[in-house]
Amino acid sequence: MGKLRNKLIMGNWKMNGSENFTHGLIQELMQGLEAGVLNKSIKLSTQLVICPPSVYLNQAVAEIKNYKNNLNFSVGAQDVSAHEGSGAYTGEVSAQMLKDLGCEYVLVGHSERRQYHKESNELVAQKTLSVLKAGLIPVICVGESLKERENNQTKSIISEQLGAVFKLISPEVFKNSVIAYEPVWAIGTGLAATPDQVQEVHAFIRQQLASYQTSQAGLALGNQILYGGSLKPANAGEILALTDVDGGLIGGASLKAEEFLSICRSA
Ligand code: PGA
Repeated sequence: MGKLRNKLIMGNWKMNGSENFTHGLIQELMQGLEAGVLNKSIKLSTQLVICPPSVYLNQAVAEIKNYKNNLNFSVGAQDVSAHEGSGAYTGEVSAQMLKDLGCEYVLVGHSERRQYHKESNELVAQKTLSVLKAGLIPVICVGESLKERENNQTKSIISEQLGAVFKLISPEVFKNSVIAYEPVWAIGTGLAATPDQVQEVHAFIRQQLASYQTSQAGLALGNQILYGGSLKPANAGEILALTDVDGGLIGGASLKAEEFLSICRSA
């Protein structure tokens, strides 16, 4: 059934880049696409998204528009305020503002936000809701630390992370969301989860979705579930082919056009 869902490949640039870098990387990616790096069927069924730092989002949206092959290529933000619209929230950027800029996706609850900015499951749920209300697609990141995996807590941690979102948001509203499974120990370490580990957790997430959505049978199959954590050209083929894996969230390797496009080809 996994193959009914389209693939989604996202590049999370994190706090990297500059105006020049943004220009150069988008140029290389778009030229690669125009040169036919991806064949036609991949193009039709795969969405590519880059998530530069917020100050370069405007530039990225504008530059992508310059290419005629830009249909399956869009821009996402790495974070968002939980507050909606506008108001006295110094330093915050709302989902409506991201929409106004032309973003289509927003990462919420990335482990680096949870870890360094103390984002709780409840805050991540609030952010998810504000993204959905603005008509954008949230990519909700979940995953366990090494210690939690060693203590056999992977599933309970993920249930809690998802549970806070399910508690706040109805399945009907949630259906336009994406989930990214990113084991914390695999992020930026070069050590990706094994295909067995990935498939096991993805199948578990799909089950969680199905039981949350029991009243609306069938919806669970529609939500894309991405894998992230040291995804690179060498392991992307195997991981992206797994039944319950609908794409990838890529950090380090998304900063090099050649590697990012090679991962897209594996999809
Ligand atoms: P990585 O990061 O690909 O560099 O491991 C993934 C992520 O943090 O989204």
